[in-house]
Order: sequence, then C-alpha cells, then structure tokens
Amino acid sequence: MADERKSTHTRVHNGTVTRARRERLNAHRSVIVWFTGLSGAGKSTLANAVEERLHLAGYRTYVLDGDNVRQGLCADLGFSPDERMENIRRVGETAKLFVDAGVVVLAAFISPFRSDRARVRALVPDGDFIEIHCRCSLAVCEERDVKGLYRLARMGAIAEFTGISSPYEVPEAPELIVDTGTQHLAESVDDVMALLQPRLQVA
Ligand code: PPS
Repeated sequence: MADERKSTHTRVHNGTVTRARRERLNAHRSVIVWFTGLSGAGKSTLANAVEERLHLAGYRTYVLDGDNVRQGLCADLGFSPDERMENIRRVGETAKLFVDAGVVVLAAFISPFRSDRARVRALVPDGDFIEIHCRCSLAVCEERDVKGLYRLARMGAIAEFTGISSPYEVPEAPELIVDTGTQHLAESVDDVMALLQPRLQVA
C-alpha cells in the first residue's frame, strides 16, 4: 500500500521562493524533530513543551501528533502494522512539506517500527531528521495509564496495542534519548533545546 505510486504523468514545479530563502527570512533552519516511544511515554507532552520554548524564542513551529492526525489526515487508518506504516508515511510526507515551508516540525508518534522511522529520515537531507527516543518503561506507562487504554488492552478490548499485543522497536541510534519515565519535564526540554539550538542556526 505505502509504496504504490499511481501519480503517473505528473511533474514537480519548483517555485522561486525556496526553502533556503524561507529559512533566511525566518532566521532559523527547519528540521523534523521526531519523538518516538510507547503510548503514555510523554511524547506529546515533551513535544508541546519544546514547541512552547521555541515559540517564545521566535521560532516558527508546528506539532504533528498521533492522536490529532488520526482525527483527519489518517482517520481511515487503524493500528495494524500496515496501517501504522501508512500513518507514518503520510505524516513523514507532511513533515517534509513543513520543512520545505521553513518550519520546525515536532512530530510525536509511537512509530513503533524502525523501518518506518528510517523511511521518514530518508525523506529529508542528512541531519534534518532528529530522532528523540522518549524512553519510559512499559510498567511506568501502564501505571500512569492516562487515557485508560492499557487497562482496556489488558482486558482484550483494544487489539494490537503497542507494548501489549503489538511490538515497539527501540531506536538503535537516536540523536537523543530522554528518560521521560524519571526525568522532570523542564530538564527534558533543556536537553532537547541543547541538541536543537546549534542545528537551527542558519549558515
Ligand atoms: S503509530 O503506531 O505511530 O501509528 O500510532 P500513533 O499515530 O502515534 O497513535 C498513537 C495513539 O493512538 C491511541 N491508540 C493506540 N496506540 C497504540 N496502539 C493501539 N492499538 C492504539 N489504539 C489507540 C493512543 O492514544 C496513542 O496515543 P499516545 O499519545 O501514544 O498515547
């Protein structure tokens, strides 16, 4: 499904306002900051807190979040491996457009499969995909159970639930690991900002 191309007889039109010109106007580079981790690990919380910090500092930002994107763009997709792959493919292509628009994209998705994350990484130039593993044990996520989904998954009421009945492939070489199970949010934001700031400087 994901690699099917039916858009034959189409071609790319390049405008005169380029990514580089947008970045110069914004006075910062655009990148994809990709937060991956189990449900309840704190991906959205961290992405939103980082966005707040960047916004206050004058950066153009946008958060793409699993729960939100699945209300519209990906409302037709469930949680089978193929549907998750298609979800991440669409989100990756969307994030790529935002990067072209000069925006710092903060993407918060479980994105449990390494191959799907690697495919998004390959969509943008080297260095423009910054993978952040929100590391939090299943036990802590399940204990938090903010949305009550783990309880439902344990009861068998939700099929293919990540960590319970569907796998999560831990990133092998993320740009950053944040221990969202133990670290305070403000410290995690500091760590992400320290990683990002030099990468957002225009040449
Ligand atoms: S994925 O795997 O990247 O396609 O998932 P994502 O788009 O990030 O959506 C994750 C949110 O969907 C809710 N949810 C589930 N998560 C995991 N497994 C199953 N089966 C499932 N069903 C619903 C859940 O609220 C996830 O949000 P987060 O913020 O991760 O807890």
